[in-house]
Amino acid sequence: PAPLRVALLGCGVVGTEVARGILANPIDLEARVGTRVELTGIAVRSLDTERVTDDGFVIPHDLLTTDAEALVDGADVVVEVMGGIEPARTLIVRALGAGAAVVTANKALLAERGPELFEAADAAGVDLLYEAAVAGAIPIVRPIRESLAGDHVRRVLGIVNGTTNYVLDKMATEGLDLDQAVKEAQALGYAEADPTADVDGFDAAAKAAILASLAFHTRVALKDVAREGIRGVSAADVAWARRTGHVIKLLAVAEVIGPVDDGEISVRVHPALVPDSHPLAAVRGAFNAVFVEADGAGPLMFYGQGAGGRPTASAVLGDVVSVARRRLTGGKGLRESKDQAFPVLPSQAAVTRY
Ligand code: HSE
Repeated sequence: PAPLRVALLGCGVVGTEVARGILANPIDLEARVGTRVELTGIAVRSLDTERVTDDGFVIPHDLLTTDAEALVDGADVVVEVMGGIEPARTLIVRALGAGAAVVTANKALLAERGPELFEAADAAGVDLLYEAAVAGAIPIVRPIRESLAGDHVRRVLGIVNGTTNYVLDKMATEGLDLDQAVKEAQALGYAEADPTADVDGFDAAAKAAILASLAFHTRVALKDVAREGIRGVSAADVAWARRTGHVIKLLAVAEVIGPVDDGEISVRVHPALVPDSHPLAAVRGAFNAVFVEADGAGPLMFYGQGAGGRPTASAVLGDVVSVARRRLTGGKGLRESKDQAFPVLPSQAAVTRY
């Protein structure tokens, strides 16, 4: 088959890692996908900055372009990791209209303009995937949309913003104040370009809107989410919580109030006192966790790295492989990998280590 042409929009913390994932092939992408995956270019605002991953992988300068539209027009798959509403929205609509599949990590865009993007994808008959938009590396979009499609979800309870979880953790364990801890989160690549998006709960609210839309088969927008960030949480609050056997967490909550088919949903983000004994209390640093309660499945917990370049790029690349496989199989989707031959060790019990 012809090579798969991938256009990348954005080359920040996540974009550089996506580019590395395609160029440096830490996995054998060609074998996974079934054809060669070609990164045709990376749209950036400025050609002057050197683009390099945290551990020193330099993005070849000749891949960078400021002409995002031309890049989109020549692509089979467009990966959008630039963030913000515009020009991301216009470029995604353009890509979908031209029949390209789109993979995005843009939670704010999905929460504000999701319906029009999904309609454009439906009209064009192409995929719009966004596993990386909620909780970084944690597979949560597919499990709710697909694995739980035969169940009734009652409640989703999540720590979905790594920056604020990191900040609250540092306030509790090292006595840092909010501003100091935010600076550290920025230096580690967790915080949004404008960290007020994290601190004031907008990022978590966007993710809550996406999770609620998936869980309850409806459309919840950012403006529908009640939101309070962590700015009002004081050192005294954090200390009091510790003394009384709690931790303060910024929670995203989406739940059905009343009967599951005939009730209302509440979607909100706010600081909450979580008892030390609750599994969510153990979520430290920039890790995220999403607790889902469904009628049939009961409680489920998804846990992992919710922010940072490589974890988020992992989810983006998974979506790229997924859309690529569907394209190559004419929409049938599944393609079991058989690209490696791992012999099974004869003495498995003896070598099992945890
Ligand atoms: N700023 C976000 C966070 C990045 O801290 O969780 C991941 O969406």
